[in-house]
Amino acid sequence: MKSHIQSLLEQTLDSLKQQGIIPADFTARIQVDRTKDKSHGDLATNLAMMLTKAAGMKPRDLAQLIIDNLPESSHVAKVEIAGPGFINFFIDDNALASQLQVALEDEHLGIQLPQQQTIVVDYSSPNLAKEMHVGHLRSTIIGDSAARALEFLGHNVIRQNHVGDWGTQFGMLLAYMEELRAQHQDKAHLELADLEGFYRAAKLRFDESADFATRARQLVVELQSGDEYCHKLWQEFNNISLNHCYDIYQRLGVSMTRADIRGESSYNDDLPQVVTDLDKLGLLSESNGAKVVFQNEFKTKEGEPLPVIIQKADGGYLYATTDLAAMRYRSNILHADRVLYFVDLRQALHFQQVFNLAKTANFVSKEMSLEHLGFGTMNGEDGRPFKTRSGGVVKLVDLLDEAVVRATELVRSKNPDMDEAELESIAKVVGIASVKYADLSKNRASDYIFSFEQMLSFEGNTAPYLLYAYTRVAGIFKRAADIDLSNAKIVLEHDKEKELGSKLAQFGETVNRMVAKGQPHVLCAYLFELAGAFSSFYEACPVLAAETEEQKLSRLLLAKLTAKTLKQGLTLLGIETLERM
Ligand code: ARG
Repeated sequence: MKSHIQSLLEQTLDSLKQQGIIPADFTARIQVDRTKDKSHGDLATNLAMMLTKAAGMKPRDLAQLIIDNLPESSHVAKVEIAGPGFINFFIDDNALASQLQVALEDEHLGIQLPQQQTIVVDYSSPNLAKEMHVGHLRSTIIGDSAARALEFLGHNVIRQNHVGDWGTQFGMLLAYMEELRAQHQDKAHLELADLEGFYRAAKLRFDESADFATRARQLVVELQSGDEYCHKLWQEFNNISLNHCYDIYQRLGVSMTRADIRGESSYNDDLPQVVTDLDKLGLLSESNGAKVVFQNEFKTKEGEPLPVIIQKADGGYLYATTDLAAMRYRSNILHADRVLYFVDLRQALHFQQVFNLAKTANFVSKEMSLEHLGFGTMNGEDGRPFKTRSGGVVKLVDLLDEAVVRATELVRSKNPDMDEAELESIAKVVGIASVKYADLSKNRASDYIFSFEQMLSFEGNTAPYLLYAYTRVAGIFKRAADIDLSNAKIVLEHDKEKELGSKLAQFGETVNRMVAKGQPHVLCAYLFELAGAFSSFYEACPVLAAETEEQKLSRLLLAKLTAKTLKQGLTLLGIETLERM
């Protein structure tokens, strides 16, 4: 509906230009917003105010002129001028009802699909030398939800797990693996079950033994020069490490597959070429033996030039070098229109620098949009970065385990008689959903406080609230299983029916808003409001005990579309629904 009003206004603007009221070269972004108060209609625009200067007219007079030039539309019941010159649109109830009827039948819920783009989503991307920790949670689930929503809108989504599988730390890890192997064939495998411990032990050996350190350095060189034995050792290590990650993805219900891995190592062959190309363009400078690029846009606080380091004095390449190679792969080979990076906001400067450099060096097409969609830190209840009681990093596995344990208590307290097997499967869904939803529902750019209590509450914008709301709607159908809805029609009469109908009609614009900036919290807020609108409707409007048969069927359809929308919305967030909880 919003896009319909937008297009009516675009046509109006064109006709005002033809009439010479607005200069032909005037461009304006036409904004249409939902009104807060229904007495002001459903949608409003400030277009008249935006055009006053260009037209040399008073805003209210211009608003009237816009209304006079508005094309006929059966969707609009009434148009009004309000305040200094806002134009308010009242949507026709029948038009709204037929829009909802279409949504019921359509797998995309009636959403108009945008023009298809190829969109690379770089997310999760952990460093393989260590186990995944809570810091990786945000990237993994926010990125996954964005990928799902973009795919739902028909885009060609290419997931990229840009894992950190390369670097000097691997020398140390491989040396330790080799040492364990020499002592006991299977030991390495066992010890790697605890990657974190393995890393610490390797580091300890590195610090205590000069021989070990020498071997570690030697292994780095051999690995980089493509030595076969070394390469095999490295592959084995990565494989085990990746198994850890993919176990977690599976528990989280994340849609990434092994085929989506394109780690740092996969760009190795292009790195010397990156250096050569930057050099040819005259962009490289020397700084203490290292090859760097200075860009005028980037200075330190003291005004000193801030370089991007491309190659260290010892020949080693850096994180930035790999990202440059990855960007050109994404442009030249994947032909991406947009590349979205879901990475901690603390890497903002890195991305600004490499994006800018990639454009300057023509490594990527001019049109390709590079977007760092950063996120804040997940803090503990003390407001400091989330740690275990003893101050260590919280492993993701442990966090998920605890969420499920707590969810089990929660579900049991609501259903003391439920059998264990059902309890367990419900608790698994609720526990994981709670962790994910708590994260997704916050504005990604802000830090947030991780609290099991808050996320497992039935009150407020939480997973348990929404999952429960869904089971309630689904429950209506269990009781109405034998009612034939094939000839039913939605009719909006009661205020609460209209409010619910209007909310339901906003699903499409919500998903579009969510993907524009990769903000799942926009969808969460919408689903929460939708569940609220359904509650108010259900309280005011009896469904199975409605006054007439038509009314009953219409209300059942509204319930059906609510269930469908909640389920689809949760699916885009990567959250499973339950029929009972
Ligand atoms: N491995 C990095 C880290 O753990 C994140 C990589 C993000 N993606 C990228 N293309 N730089 O911090």
